[in-house]
Amino acid sequence: MNKPLQIALDGPAGAGKSTIAKTLAKKLGYVYIDTGAIYRAVTYRALQDGVGLEDGPMLAEMIDKMDLRLVPSENGQRVYDGTEEVTDVIRTSEVTNNVSFVARQPEVRAALMDLQRDLASKGGIVMDGRDIGTHVLPGADLKVFMTATVEERARRRHEENVSKGLPSDLEQLQLEIALRDKRDSEREVAPLRQADDAHYLDTTELSIDGVVEAIEHLMKQVIER
Ligand code: DC
Repeated sequence: MNKPLQIALDGPAGAGKSTIAKTLAKKLGYVYIDTGAIYRAVTYRALQDGVGLEDGPMLAEMIDKMDLRLVPSENGQRVYDGTEEVTDVIRTSEVTNNVSFVARQPEVRAALMDLQRDLASKGGIVMDGRDIGTHVLPGADLKVFMTATVEERARRRHEENVSKGLPSDLEQLQLEIALRDKRDSEREVAPLRQADDAHYLDTTELSIDGVVEAIEHLMKQVIER
């Protein structure tokens, strides 16, 4: 059997990272780790507890008291804070539109580093995020930086919402995605950036299968190296 790899998948909001990471992990028998969910769970807790979203030290203190767990399941990753399951509540637009403020606090990023590294330590993982290749797993076996145009990413999110019966406004989504890109790329700590040794993959014109195939091809090159 091949050595279980660490695969880092970074890119902006809505590039399809989670769909691809889930599909790929399932195909390979790997564990999918969605690090955005960790930042979302922290944001959710801060909103619930009235902790300032830009108060790094207080947020770090709050994180210390949380018991964040990502549990792989048949239906994807489930997220728990202690005994409370927060898998679904961390996807509300209130959390989505506030998470960038929390994610740009250096104390928050530092407090979450060990958790992410522990989750990846055994390999056999596909980890998706913004700074996995650049900061969390600089030694990952394969790094892919996935992107797509803002229009295409908004269109995908819109289709996903509509298929789930959720209210959705395409133009609003486009604005929100562009704003989140700006905040995630312009923050001072661990901004969204392609690692020097990451493979760039523009998925605008590609199907899910097409992207998975492209990554499998890259994996083959790593294994044969
Ligand atoms: O992937 P997502 O949309 O669920 O991520 C939510 C937010 O968390 C996103 O706006 C940026 C932040 N994030 C981050 O800063 N670093 C990561 N590794 C993952 C997500």
